[in-house]
Amino acid sequence: MSTIIPQLIIGTTDLAAAFLFLYGLKRMSSPVTAPSGIFVAGLGMLVAILASFLYVFSVSAAARPHLAVNVGLALVALALGGGIAWWSGRKVALTAMPQMVALYNGMGGGAAGAIAAVELFGNKAQGLAQLVVTLLGALIGAVSLSGSVIAWAKLDGVIKKPLRVRGQQAVNALVMLATLVVGGYIAFVTQSGVEPLIPMPELITLFFGCALVFGVLMTLPIGGADMPVVISIYNALTGLAVGFEGFVLQNPALMIAGMVVGAAGTLLTLLMAKAMNRSVGNVVFTNFGTPAKHKQGNIKGSLKPVEAGDAGIFMRYASKVIIVPGYGLAAAQGQQKLYEFVKLLQAGGVDVKFAIHPVAGRMPGQMDVLLAEAGVPYDLIFQLEDINDQFAGADVALVIGANDVVNPAARTDKSSPIYGMPILNADKAKKVYVVKRGEGKGYAGIVNALFYGDNCNMVYGDAQAVLGKMIEAVKGLGLAAAA
Ligand code: TAP
Repeated sequence: MSTIIPQLIIGTTDLAAAFLFLYGLKRMSSPVTAPSGIFVAGLGMLVAILASFLYVFSVSAAARPHLAVNVGLALVALALGGGIAWWSGRKVALTAMPQMVALYNGMGGGAAGAIAAVELFGNKAQGLAQLVVTLLGALIGAVSLSGSVIAWAKLDGVIKKPLRVRGQQAVNALVMLATLVVGGYIAFVTQSGVEPLIPMPELITLFFGCALVFGVLMTLPIGGADMPVVISIYNALTGLAVGFEGFVLQNPALMIAGMVVGAAGTLLTLLMAKAMNRSVGNVVFTNFGTPAKHKQGNIKGSLKPVEAGDAGIFMRYASKVIIVPGYGLAAAQGQQKLYEFVKLLQAGGVDVKFAIHPVAGRMPGQMDVLLAEAGVPYDLIFQLEDINDQFAGADVALVIGANDVVNPAARTDKSSPIYGMPILNADKAKKVYVVKRGEGKGYAGIVNALFYGDNCNMVYGDAQAVLGKMIEAVKGLGLAAAA
Protein backbone atom coordinates (compact mmCIF):
# COMPACT_ATOMS: atom_id res chain seq x y z
CA MET A 1 0.00 0.00 0.00
CA SER A 2 1.24 3.49 -0.77
CA THR A 3 2.52 5.26 2.35
CA ILE A 4 1.25 8.69 1.33
CA ILE A 5 -2.33 8.20 2.52
CA PRO A 6 -1.39 6.72 5.93
CA GLN A 7 1.18 9.53 6.39
CA LEU A 8 -1.49 12.10 5.58
CA ILE A 9 -3.90 10.51 8.05
CA ILE A 10 -1.17 10.27 10.71
CA GLY A 11 -0.24 13.92 10.23
CA THR A 12 -3.87 15.05 10.42
CA THR A 13 -4.67 12.97 13.50
CA ASP A 14 -1.46 14.16 15.19
CA LEU A 15 -2.52 17.74 14.57
CA ALA A 16 -6.02 16.98 15.87
CA ALA A 17 -4.45 15.46 19.01
CA ALA A 18 -2.26 18.54 19.48
CA PHE A 19 -5.31 20.80 19.12
CA LEU A 20 -7.18 18.75 21.74
CA PHE A 21 -4.20 19.01 24.15
CA LEU A 22 -4.13 22.80 23.80
CA TYR A 23 -7.89 23.22 24.00
CA GLY A 24 -8.01 20.90 27.04
CA LEU A 25 -5.27 22.91 28.73
CA LYS A 26 -7.12 26.15 28.04
CA ARG A 27 -10.25 24.73 29.73
CA MET A 28 -8.16 23.68 32.73
CA SER A 29 -7.48 27.34 33.52
CA SER A 30 -10.77 27.66 35.44
CA PRO A 31 -12.19 25.25 38.05
CA VAL A 32 -15.58 25.49 36.30
CA THR A 33 -14.30 24.13 32.98
CA ALA A 34 -11.37 22.05 34.33
CA PRO A 35 -13.15 18.64 34.45
CA SER A 36 -14.14 18.90 30.77
CA GLY A 37 -10.60 20.18 30.02
CA ILE A 38 -9.14 16.99 31.48
CA PHE A 39 -11.58 14.94 29.40
CA VAL A 40 -10.67 16.81 26.20
CA ALA A 41 -6.91 16.44 26.82
CA GLY A 42 -7.44 12.72 27.56
CA LEU A 43 -9.30 12.42 24.27
CA GLY A 44 -6.31 14.05 22.58
CA MET A 45 -4.05 11.40 24.11
CA LEU A 46 -6.35 8.64 22.83
CA VAL A 47 -6.27 10.11 19.32
CA ALA A 48 -2.44 10.35 19.46
CA ILE A 49 -2.18 6.69 20.56
CA LEU A 50 -4.52 5.53 17.79
CA ALA A 51 -2.52 7.58 15.26
CA SER A 52 0.69 5.85 16.33
CA PHE A 53 -0.81 2.49 15.28
CA LEU A 54 -1.22 3.84 11.75
CA TYR A 55 2.56 3.62 11.39
CA VAL A 56 2.07 -0.12 10.69
CA PHE A 57 1.18 0.91 7.14
CA SER A 58 4.48 2.67 6.54
CA VAL A 59 7.12 0.38 8.07
CA SER A 60 10.13 -0.58 5.98
CA ALA A 61 10.39 -3.97 4.30
CA ALA A 62 13.13 -4.95 6.76
CA ALA A 63 10.88 -4.29 9.77
CA ARG A 64 7.78 -5.95 8.34
CA PRO A 65 8.52 -9.48 9.67
CA HIS A 66 8.55 -8.07 13.22
CA LEU A 67 5.30 -6.19 12.80
CA ALA A 68 2.94 -8.65 14.46
CA VAL A 69 5.21 -9.08 17.50
CA ASN A 70 5.75 -5.33 17.87
CA VAL A 71 2.06 -4.47 17.58
CA GLY A 72 1.29 -7.25 20.07
CA LEU A 73 3.88 -5.85 22.50
CA ALA A 74 2.46 -2.34 22.11
CA LEU A 75 -1.06 -3.62 22.85
CA VAL A 76 0.14 -5.52 25.95
CA ALA A 77 2.00 -2.40 27.15
CA LEU A 78 -1.12 -0.31 26.55
CA ALA A 79 -3.36 -2.72 28.43
CA LEU A 80 -0.90 -3.00 31.33
CA GLY A 81 -0.13 0.74 31.57
CA GLY A 82 -3.74 1.80 31.03
CA GLY A 83 -5.01 -0.78 33.53
CA ILE A 84 -2.54 0.21 36.25
CA ALA A 85 -3.20 3.93 35.67
CA TRP A 86 -6.99 3.41 35.82
CA TRP A 87 -6.71 1.38 39.03
CA SER A 88 -4.23 3.69 40.78
CA GLY A 89 -6.09 6.83 39.65
CA ARG A 90 -9.31 5.59 41.25
CA LYS A 91 -7.57 4.41 44.42
CA VAL A 92 -5.26 7.32 45.19
CA ALA A 93 -6.23 9.66 48.03
CA LEU A 94 -6.23 13.38 47.25
CA THR A 95 -3.45 13.91 49.80
CA ALA A 96 -1.27 11.35 47.99
CA MET A 97 -1.71 13.08 44.63
CA PRO A 98 1.73 14.79 44.66
CA GLN A 99 3.44 11.38 45.00
CA MET A 100 1.39 10.04 42.13
CA VAL A 101 2.21 13.05 39.95
CA ALA A 102 5.91 12.50 40.77
CA LEU A 103 5.72 8.85 39.70
CA TYR A 104 3.84 9.52 36.48
CA ASN A 105 6.17 12.35 35.66
CA GLY A 106 9.15 10.05 36.19
CA MET A 107 7.59 7.60 33.75
CA GLY A 108 7.27 10.37 31.16
CA GLY A 109 10.99 11.16 31.56
CA GLY A 110 11.79 7.44 31.40
CA ALA A 111 9.74 7.06 28.21
CA ALA A 112 11.63 9.94 26.56
CA GLY A 113 14.92 8.37 27.73
CA ALA A 114 13.83 4.99 26.33
CA ILE A 115 13.08 6.48 22.90
CA ALA A 116 16.52 8.08 22.94
CA ALA A 117 18.11 4.77 23.98
CA VAL A 118 16.52 2.99 21.00
CA GLU A 119 17.85 5.70 18.69
CA LEU A 120 21.34 5.69 20.22
CA PHE A 121 21.85 1.93 20.52
CA GLY A 122 20.45 1.48 17.00
CA ASN A 123 22.75 4.28 15.74
CA LYS A 124 19.73 5.77 13.97
CA ALA A 125 20.42 9.49 14.34
CA GLN A 126 20.94 11.20 11.00
CA GLY A 127 23.36 14.10 11.24
CA LEU A 128 24.88 16.00 14.14
CA ALA A 129 21.78 18.07 14.99
CA GLN A 130 19.58 15.01 15.39
CA LEU A 131 22.25 13.25 17.44
CA VAL A 132 22.69 16.21 19.79
CA VAL A 133 18.92 16.53 20.27
CA THR A 134 18.68 12.76 20.96
CA LEU A 135 21.47 13.00 23.54
CA LEU A 136 19.88 16.03 25.20
CA GLY A 137 16.51 14.24 25.36
CA ALA A 138 18.25 11.18 26.83
CA LEU A 139 20.06 13.26 29.44
CA ILE A 140 17.02 15.26 30.53
CA GLY A 141 14.69 12.25 30.44
CA ALA A 142 17.03 10.13 32.57
CA VAL A 143 17.61 12.93 35.13
CA SER A 144 13.86 13.49 35.31
CA LEU A 145 13.20 9.76 35.79
CA SER A 146 15.60 9.16 38.69
CA GLY A 147 14.94 12.58 40.27
CA SER A 148 11.17 12.03 40.18
CA VAL A 149 11.53 8.61 41.79
CA ILE A 150 13.49 10.18 44.66
CA ALA A 151 10.84 12.94 44.92
CA TRP A 152 8.15 10.23 45.13
CA ALA A 153 10.13 8.38 47.84
CA LYS A 154 10.42 11.58 49.88
CA LEU A 155 6.77 12.55 49.56
CA ASP A 156 5.68 9.01 50.38
CA GLY A 157 7.87 8.91 53.47
CA VAL A 158 10.11 6.11 52.10
CA ILE A 159 13.03 8.54 52.42
CA LYS A 160 12.43 10.46 55.60
CA LYS A 161 15.23 13.03 55.67
CA PRO A 162 17.18 15.09 53.15
CA LEU A 163 20.56 13.38 52.69
CA ARG A 164 23.41 15.86 52.64
CA VAL A 165 27.18 15.45 52.71
CA ARG A 166 29.95 18.00 52.69
CA GLY A 167 30.96 19.02 49.18
CA GLN A 168 27.76 17.60 47.70
CA GLN A 169 27.35 20.41 45.19
CA ALA A 170 30.89 19.87 43.90
CA VAL A 171 30.19 16.14 43.51
CA ASN A 172 26.95 16.91 41.67
CA ALA A 173 28.80 19.31 39.35
CA LEU A 174 31.45 16.65 38.66
CA VAL A 175 28.84 14.00 37.82
CA MET A 176 27.08 16.44 35.47
CA LEU A 177 30.41 17.30 33.84
CA ALA A 178 31.19 13.59 33.39
CA THR A 179 27.76 13.05 31.77
CA LEU A 180 28.33 15.93 29.35
CA VAL A 181 31.86 14.71 28.49
CA VAL A 182 30.62 11.17 27.77
CA GLY A 183 27.72 12.57 25.72
CA GLY A 184 30.11 14.83 23.79
CA TYR A 185 32.44 11.89 23.17
CA ILE A 186 29.55 9.79 21.83
CA ALA A 187 28.69 12.58 19.40
CA PHE A 188 32.34 12.97 18.34
CA VAL A 189 32.88 9.24 17.78
CA THR A 190 29.62 8.82 15.87
CA GLN A 191 30.30 11.78 13.60
CA SER A 192 34.05 11.27 12.99
CA GLY A 193 33.89 7.49 12.59
CA VAL A 194 36.99 7.01 14.82
CA GLU A 195 37.19 3.88 16.96
CA PRO A 196 35.87 4.66 20.51
CA LEU A 197 38.10 3.94 23.53
CA ILE A 198 35.45 1.61 24.90
CA PRO A 199 32.74 -0.11 22.82
CA MET A 200 29.81 2.12 21.92
CA PRO A 201 27.09 0.18 23.85
CA GLU A 202 29.15 0.52 27.06
CA LEU A 203 29.70 4.20 26.34
CA ILE A 204 25.95 4.81 25.92
CA THR A 205 25.22 2.80 29.09
CA LEU A 206 27.78 4.91 30.97
CA PHE A 207 26.11 8.08 29.67
CA PHE A 208 22.67 6.97 30.90
CA GLY A 209 24.16 5.74 34.20
CA CYS A 210 25.80 9.13 34.90
CA ALA A 211 22.55 10.98 34.04
CA LEU A 212 20.49 8.73 36.34
CA VAL A 213 23.00 9.16 39.19
CA PHE A 214 22.90 12.95 38.69
CA GLY A 215 19.09 12.97 39.07
CA VAL A 216 19.39 11.05 42.34
CA LEU A 217 22.20 13.24 43.71
CA MET A 218 20.45 16.45 42.76
CA THR A 219 17.20 15.51 44.52
CA LEU A 220 18.48 13.78 47.67
CA PRO A 221 19.56 16.95 49.53
CA ILE A 222 16.35 18.90 48.85
CA GLY A 223 13.89 19.15 51.76
CA GLY A 224 10.46 17.49 51.61
CA ALA A 225 8.58 20.82 51.70
CA ASP A 226 10.17 21.78 48.41
CA MET A 227 9.23 18.57 46.64
CA PRO A 228 6.13 20.01 44.87
CA VAL A 229 8.36 22.69 43.31
CA VAL A 230 10.96 20.07 42.43
CA ILE A 231 8.31 17.86 40.81
CA SER A 232 7.18 20.85 38.82
CA ILE A 233 10.77 21.43 37.65
CA TYR A 234 11.06 17.77 36.63
CA ASN A 235 7.70 18.07 34.92
CA ALA A 236 9.07 20.91 32.81
CA LEU A 237 12.21 18.86 32.05
CA THR A 238 10.16 15.81 31.08
CA GLY A 239 8.16 17.95 28.67
CA LEU A 240 11.38 19.22 27.12
CA ALA A 241 12.79 15.69 26.79
CA VAL A 242 9.56 14.45 25.18
CA GLY A 243 9.58 17.43 22.81
CA PHE A 244 13.19 16.67 21.80
CA GLU A 245 12.40 13.01 21.15
CA GLY A 246 9.31 14.10 19.17
CA PHE A 247 11.71 16.09 16.98
CA VAL A 248 13.97 13.06 16.58
CA LEU A 249 11.00 10.88 15.58
CA GLN A 250 9.50 13.71 13.53
CA ASN A 251 6.24 13.24 15.41
CA PRO A 252 4.29 16.54 15.62
CA ALA A 253 1.94 15.40 18.42
CA LEU A 254 4.91 14.44 20.60
CA MET A 255 6.71 17.69 19.81
CA ILE A 256 3.71 19.89 20.62
CA ALA A 257 2.67 17.92 23.72
CA GLY A 258 6.26 17.98 25.00
CA MET A 259 6.63 21.72 24.48
CA VAL A 260 3.24 22.43 26.10
CA VAL A 261 4.18 20.33 29.15
CA GLY A 262 7.60 21.99 29.25
CA ALA A 263 6.13 25.50 29.11
CA ALA A 264 3.34 24.71 31.61
CA GLY A 265 5.81 23.10 34.03
CA THR A 266 8.14 26.09 33.80
CA LEU A 267 5.30 28.58 34.43
CA LEU A 268 3.99 26.53 37.36
CA THR A 269 7.48 26.34 38.88
CA LEU A 270 7.88 30.11 38.64
CA LEU A 271 4.39 30.76 40.07
CA MET A 272 5.00 28.43 43.03
CA ALA A 273 8.39 29.97 43.72
CA LYS A 274 6.80 33.44 43.56
CA ALA A 275 4.01 32.43 45.96
CA MET A 276 6.68 31.31 48.44
CA ASN A 277 8.76 34.42 47.71
CA ARG A 278 11.78 32.29 46.82
CA SER A 279 13.88 31.83 43.72
CA VAL A 280 13.98 28.46 41.94
CA GLY A 281 17.75 28.37 42.63
CA ASN A 282 17.04 28.84 46.32
CA VAL A 283 14.66 25.84 46.25
CA VAL A 284 17.12 23.57 44.46
CA PHE A 285 20.29 24.59 46.27
CA THR A 286 19.21 25.32 49.86
CA ASN A 287 17.70 23.43 52.72
CA PHE A 288 14.18 24.74 53.20
CA GLY A 289 11.82 22.25 54.80
CA THR A 290 14.32 20.78 57.25
CA PRO A 291 13.80 21.37 60.98
CA ALA A 292 14.28 25.09 61.37
CA LYS A 293 17.47 26.30 62.97
CA HIS A 294 16.29 29.91 63.14
CA LYS A 295 15.34 31.49 66.45
CA GLN A 296 11.61 31.29 66.99
CA GLY A 297 11.66 34.69 68.66
CA ASN A 298 9.93 35.44 71.92
CA ILE A 299 6.40 34.36 71.25
CA LYS A 300 4.24 35.88 73.95
CA GLY A 301 0.83 34.66 75.08
CA SER A 302 -0.51 31.16 75.47
CA LEU A 303 -2.55 28.61 73.55
CA LYS A 304 -6.22 28.93 74.53
CA PRO A 305 -8.30 25.85 73.70
CA VAL A 306 -12.09 26.05 73.36
CA GLU A 307 -14.77 23.47 72.64
CA ALA A 308 -15.77 22.90 69.03
CA GLY A 309 -19.46 23.43 69.82
CA ASP A 310 -18.80 26.83 71.42
CA ALA A 311 -16.77 27.96 68.43
CA GLY A 312 -19.51 26.76 66.06
CA ILE A 313 -22.22 28.70 67.94
CA PHE A 314 -20.03 31.84 68.06
CA MET A 315 -19.72 31.74 64.27
CA ARG A 316 -23.48 31.22 63.86
CA TYR A 317 -24.00 34.61 65.53
CA ALA A 318 -21.24 36.36 63.56
CA SER A 319 -21.90 38.53 60.50
CA LYS A 320 -18.82 37.75 58.46
CA VAL A 321 -16.67 34.60 58.58
CA ILE A 322 -13.62 33.93 56.39
CA ILE A 323 -12.44 30.33 56.20
CA VAL A 324 -8.78 29.47 55.55
CA PRO A 325 -8.43 25.82 54.54
CA GLY A 326 -5.04 24.07 54.56
CA TYR A 327 -3.35 20.73 54.24
CA GLY A 328 -5.01 19.34 57.41
CA LEU A 329 -8.49 19.72 55.88
CA ALA A 330 -7.42 17.52 52.96
CA ALA A 331 -5.75 15.03 55.32
CA ALA A 332 -8.95 14.82 57.38
CA GLN A 333 -11.15 14.69 54.26
CA GLY A 334 -13.30 17.26 56.02
CA GLN A 335 -14.46 19.18 52.95
CA GLN A 336 -18.02 17.79 52.86
CA LYS A 337 -18.59 18.53 56.54
CA LEU A 338 -17.07 21.97 56.10
CA TYR A 339 -19.53 22.88 53.37
CA GLU A 340 -22.40 21.45 55.43
CA PHE A 341 -21.33 23.78 58.27
CA VAL A 342 -21.02 26.71 55.86
CA LYS A 343 -24.56 26.11 54.57
CA LEU A 344 -25.85 26.20 58.15
CA LEU A 345 -24.10 29.52 58.75
CA GLN A 346 -25.43 30.93 55.47
CA ALA A 347 -28.94 29.81 56.36
CA GLY A 348 -28.53 31.97 59.45
CA GLY A 349 -27.54 34.97 57.33
CA VAL A 350 -23.79 34.80 57.96
CA ASP A 351 -21.60 36.06 55.11
CA VAL A 352 -19.07 33.23 54.53
CA LYS A 353 -16.08 33.31 52.20
CA PHE A 354 -13.12 31.01 51.58
CA ALA A 355 -9.59 32.41 51.36
CA ILE A 356 -7.14 30.32 49.36
CA HIS A 357 -3.37 30.67 49.62
CA PRO A 358 -1.52 29.72 46.41
CA VAL A 359 0.63 27.12 48.19
CA ALA A 360 -1.91 25.88 50.75
CA GLY A 361 -1.86 22.10 50.92
CA ARG A 362 0.78 20.09 49.16
CA MET A 363 0.18 20.82 45.50
CA PRO A 364 -1.00 23.78 43.42
CA GLY A 365 -4.77 24.15 43.37
CA GLN A 366 -5.30 21.41 45.98
CA MET A 367 -7.68 23.53 48.06
CA ASP A 368 -9.71 24.63 45.02
CA VAL A 369 -10.11 21.00 43.97
CA LEU A 370 -11.03 19.96 47.52
CA LEU A 371 -13.74 22.62 47.83
CA ALA A 372 -15.03 21.94 44.30
CA GLU A 373 -15.32 18.26 45.24
CA ALA A 374 -17.59 19.24 48.14
CA GLY A 375 -19.73 21.38 45.82
CA VAL A 376 -18.71 24.77 47.26
CA PRO A 377 -19.84 27.43 44.72
CA TYR A 378 -16.90 29.17 43.03
CA ASP A 379 -18.19 32.61 43.92
CA LEU A 380 -17.47 31.88 47.60
CA ILE A 381 -13.81 31.09 46.87
CA PHE A 382 -11.28 33.94 46.79
CA GLN A 383 -7.56 33.92 46.09
CA LEU A 384 -5.12 35.64 48.45
CA GLU A 385 -4.80 38.95 46.60
CA ASP A 386 -8.58 39.31 46.28
CA ILE A 387 -9.49 38.71 49.92
CA ASN A 388 -6.54 39.68 52.09
CA ASP A 389 -7.88 43.18 52.77
CA GLN A 390 -11.19 41.77 53.99
CA PHE A 391 -9.83 39.97 57.08
CA ALA A 392 -9.72 43.22 59.05
CA GLY A 393 -13.48 43.56 58.60
CA ALA A 394 -14.26 39.92 59.44
CA ASP A 395 -15.74 38.81 62.75
CA VAL A 396 -14.09 35.41 62.53
CA ALA A 397 -11.23 33.80 60.62
CA LEU A 398 -11.67 30.03 60.78
CA VAL A 399 -8.26 28.49 60.07
CA ILE A 400 -8.85 24.84 59.41
CA GLY A 401 -5.86 22.51 58.98
CA ALA A 402 -3.71 25.42 57.83
CA ASN A 403 -0.57 26.67 59.52
CA ASP A 404 2.34 28.12 57.51
CA VAL A 405 0.05 30.08 55.20
CA VAL A 406 -1.24 32.16 58.13
CA ASN A 407 2.06 32.46 60.05
CA PRO A 408 2.79 36.16 60.73
CA ALA A 409 6.50 35.29 61.05
CA ALA A 410 6.53 35.48 57.25
CA ARG A 411 5.98 39.24 57.64
CA THR A 412 8.23 40.02 60.56
CA ASP A 413 10.86 37.36 61.33
CA LYS A 414 13.82 37.69 58.97
CA SER A 415 15.38 34.47 60.27
CA SER A 416 12.24 32.45 59.49
CA PRO A 417 12.43 30.00 56.55
CA ILE A 418 9.12 31.41 55.32
CA TYR A 419 10.15 35.08 55.66
CA GLY A 420 8.82 37.06 52.72
CA MET A 421 6.16 34.51 51.75
CA PRO A 422 2.86 36.36 51.28
CA ILE A 423 0.43 35.10 53.94
CA LEU A 424 -3.30 35.31 54.53
CA ASN A 425 -4.05 38.05 57.09
CA ALA A 426 -6.09 35.78 59.38
CA ASP A 427 -4.49 37.43 62.43
CA LYS A 428 -6.24 40.72 61.52
CA ALA A 429 -9.75 39.28 62.05
CA LYS A 430 -11.55 40.17 65.27
CA LYS A 431 -11.55 36.53 66.34
CA VAL A 432 -9.54 33.57 65.07
CA TYR A 433 -10.38 29.89 65.53
CA VAL A 434 -7.66 27.41 64.59
CA VAL A 435 -8.72 23.82 64.05
CA LYS A 436 -5.88 21.28 64.33
CA ARG A 437 -5.22 18.03 66.15
CA GLY A 438 -2.55 19.21 68.56
CA GLU A 439 0.66 21.19 68.59
CA GLY A 440 1.97 19.78 65.33
CA LYS A 441 3.90 22.24 63.20
CA GLY A 442 3.25 23.10 59.58
CA TYR A 443 5.38 21.86 56.71
CA ALA A 444 8.07 24.48 57.29
CA GLY A 445 8.52 23.06 60.81
CA ILE A 446 8.12 26.33 62.71
CA VAL A 447 5.98 27.67 65.55
CA ASN A 448 3.08 29.93 64.62
CA ALA A 449 2.69 33.14 66.65
CA LEU A 450 -0.89 33.53 65.40
CA PHE A 451 -2.00 30.66 67.65
CA TYR A 452 -0.76 32.57 70.74
CA GLY A 453 -2.50 35.83 69.86
CA ASP A 454 -5.07 37.40 72.24
CA ASN A 455 -7.77 37.09 69.57
CA CYS A 456 -7.07 33.39 68.85
CA ASN A 457 -8.55 30.18 70.26
CA MET A 458 -7.51 26.64 69.43
CA VAL A 459 -10.11 24.00 68.62
CA TYR A 460 -8.27 20.72 68.95
CA GLY A 461 -9.25 17.62 67.04
CA ASP A 462 -9.35 16.05 63.60
CA ALA A 463 -10.89 18.61 61.21
CA GLN A 464 -13.74 16.34 60.17
CA ALA A 465 -14.64 15.41 63.76
CA VAL A 466 -14.46 19.05 64.91
CA LEU A 467 -16.76 20.15 62.08
CA GLY A 468 -19.20 17.39 63.00
CA LYS A 469 -19.38 18.81 66.53
CA MET A 470 -19.80 22.36 65.25
CA ILE A 471 -22.68 21.25 63.02
CA GLU A 472 -24.32 19.41 65.89
CA ALA A 473 -24.02 22.44 68.16
CA VAL A 474 -25.48 24.86 65.62
CA LYS A 475 -28.33 22.49 64.77
CA GLY A 476 -28.91 22.06 68.51
CA LEU A 477 -29.71 25.77 68.75
CA GLY A 478 -32.91 24.99 66.84
CA LEU A 479 -32.87 28.43 65.24
CA ALA A 480 -34.94 29.17 62.19
CA ALA A 481 -32.98 30.08 59.09
CA ALA A 482 -32.78 33.73 58.14
CA ALA A 483 -35.31 34.78 55.57
P1 TAP B 1 0.78 23.25 56.86
O1 TAP B 1 1.56 24.45 57.19
O2 TAP B 1 1.51 22.04 56.41
O3 TAP B 1 -0.06 22.90 58.18
C1 TAP B 1 -1.01 21.89 58.18
C2 TAP B 1 -1.57 21.79 59.59
O4 TAP B 1 -2.65 20.89 59.52
C3 TAP B 1 -0.57 21.23 60.58
O5 TAP B 1 -0.13 22.23 61.47
C4 TAP B 1 -1.34 20.10 61.30
O6 TAP B 1 -1.30 20.33 62.72
C5 TAP B 1 -2.76 20.23 60.76
N1 TAP B 1 -3.39 18.94 60.49
C6 TAP B 1 -2.85 17.83 59.93
N2 TAP B 1 -3.75 16.85 59.86
C7 TAP B 1 -4.90 17.34 60.38
C8 TAP B 1 -6.19 16.80 60.59
N3 TAP B 1 -6.49 15.54 60.26
N4 TAP B 1 -7.14 17.60 61.15
C9 TAP B 1 -6.86 18.87 61.51
N5 TAP B 1 -5.64 19.43 61.33
C10 TAP B 1 -4.68 18.67 60.79
O7 TAP B 1 -0.34 23.53 55.78
P2 TAP B 1 -0.66 24.83 54.95
O8 TAP B 1 -0.96 25.97 55.85
O9 TAP B 1 -1.67 24.39 53.96
O10 TAP B 1 0.73 25.19 54.23
C11 TAP B 1 1.29 24.43 53.17
C12 TAP B 1 2.79 24.28 53.34
O11 TAP B 1 3.31 23.42 52.31
C13 TAP B 1 3.53 25.61 53.21
O12 TAP B 1 4.69 25.62 54.01
C14 TAP B 1 3.93 25.60 51.75
O13 TAP B 1 5.02 26.46 51.46
C15 TAP B 1 4.31 24.15 51.59
N6 TAP B 1 4.33 23.85 50.15
C16 TAP B 1 3.15 23.82 49.48
C17 TAP B 1 3.19 23.67 48.12
C18 TAP B 1 1.91 23.70 47.35
S1 TAP B 1 2.03 23.89 45.79
N7 TAP B 1 0.75 23.63 47.94
C19 TAP B 1 4.39 23.52 47.44
C20 TAP B 1 5.57 23.54 48.18
C21 TAP B 1 5.51 23.71 49.54
P3 TAP B 1 -1.55 19.10 63.72
O14 TAP B 1 -0.52 18.09 63.40
O15 TAP B 1 -1.41 19.71 65.07
O16 TAP B 1 -2.93 18.61 63.46
